[in-house]
Amino acid sequence: MPVKAVVGMQWGDEGKGKIVDVLSAEADLVVRAAGGSNAGHTIIRGGKKTVLHLVPSGILHEYSRCLLGAGMVIEPSKLREELDVLEQFGTPRVGQRVGVDPQAMLILPWHKAIEHVREARPDALGTTLRGIGPAYESRASRLGIPLALLAHPELLKTALEALYLDYQPIFELGNEPVISPSELLADLMQVAGWLVPMFTDVSLETARASAEGRFVLLEGAQGVMLDSLHGTYPFVTSSSTVFGGLLSGIGLGNGMVSDVVGVCKAYATRVGNGPFPTELEDETGKHLAAFGGEYGATTGRLRRCGWLDAVALKKAVRLVGSSQLALTKVDVLCDLPEIKVAVAYEDTDGAVLADFPCDPYRAARMKPVYRSFAPWRAPSDDAILPDELQEYISFLEGFTATRVSLVSWGPDRSQTLVRDAGGVCRSLNP
Ligand code: IMP
Ligand code: MG
Repeated sequence: MPVKAVVGMQWGDEGKGKIVDVLSAEADLVVRAAGGSNAGHTIIRGGKKTVLHLVPSGILHEYSRCLLGAGMVIEPSKLREELDVLEQFGTPRVGQRVGVDPQAMLILPWHKAIEHVREARPDALGTTLRGIGPAYESRASRLGIPLALLAHPELLKTALEALYLDYQPIFELGNEPVISPSELLADLMQVAGWLVPMFTDVSLETARASAEGRFVLLEGAQGVMLDSLHGTYPFVTSSSTVFGGLLSGIGLGNGMVSDVVGVCKAYATRVGNGPFPTELEDETGKHLAAFGGEYGATTGRLRRCGWLDAVALKKAVRLVGSSQLALTKVDVLCDLPEIKVAVAYEDTDGAVLADFPCDPYRAARMKPVYRSFAPWRAPSDDAILPDELQEYISFLEGFTATRVSLVSWGPDRSQTLVRDAGGVCRSLNP
């Protein structure tokens, strides 16, 4: 069986949760690699909405095992909350089906305190305030607290004291008292009771499942344009969101993954600050936000909305090496008189650029060059795409040299069309 990967191609919130849910119906294993509860994956089934932040979206399929890889940063209370909600909703055997790599890093109250101080300043990035960046900083400085230490109380105590000592000068600048290392140790010993039994070697388990011919799905978080290296730095998240980040976050070598599905919304959104060349600050932007329900699944913030940026998408395809695209939320564009896509940029000196500049400061001043498309009516489950939408899709396929293999026209699983190489569609649920 193949190992498939799902990666967000824009600034996150492309609809990965739904696509993973659709693709993981048969998956034995669904694995997350990086990020933490900054992610918000919304799944709507039979009118019931579930938002997952840490646990892979495959958990809603009764037989999938779901793993959280070494590249993740995990706030234990958030994980506990999510597991409890899933159990309350009757999700079977949640406790046995979720495994966590002990190499993943803990997000501590200290990380969140530091982020709150930074984000209160005028140069704020507009983060999700989940302590993601500071937890990754701790990992990079070798002062991070891996989950593994929950099984070694004496070593955990020493590690907490070392991190606290390092942070003390910063804490002294703040007005709020922070939890002491000894209190934090006591809290974490409670956590150890339920979290340590969930430990698993995610790299080994994933490789074994693949070798045994089981179907493995790798679930990306955030989007390529938020990648810590290749995104619009410094307005990025702190982990690698490209396909390579999935492999390193889980601990997999090259060659195991047969399909990489890039998820792309038919328009663009961004939460938080940073360059967004196709942003619409007019009525059309408001229309997209309202009809697309563009409020952050994690923070509830209103998302910035704009036209699809095919120049950025072409870069995302290059960074990810995606073999297919899943185009989501095509229904949201239905009522508009005209649909636009950025196909190039113009710099302030009049120079026209065919590619997204790798200098993010230059990217910030680009004006998009648009191509217009005729609007389409909503697709339906009769598996025939309107001609105008076919034309839009054919254009994107040509522009990015990537096949659009899934078209999603609503939040429910049934509102998904599978498209073959010849452009012929079939409904997911005949
Ligand atoms: P952080 O990941 O909380 O550090 O936030 C850094 C930037 O990434 C901010 O602009 C966030 O809004 C954005 N971000 C992080 N996670 C997501 C996500 O899952 N969807 C959309 N934006 C995200
Ligand atoms: Mg999201």
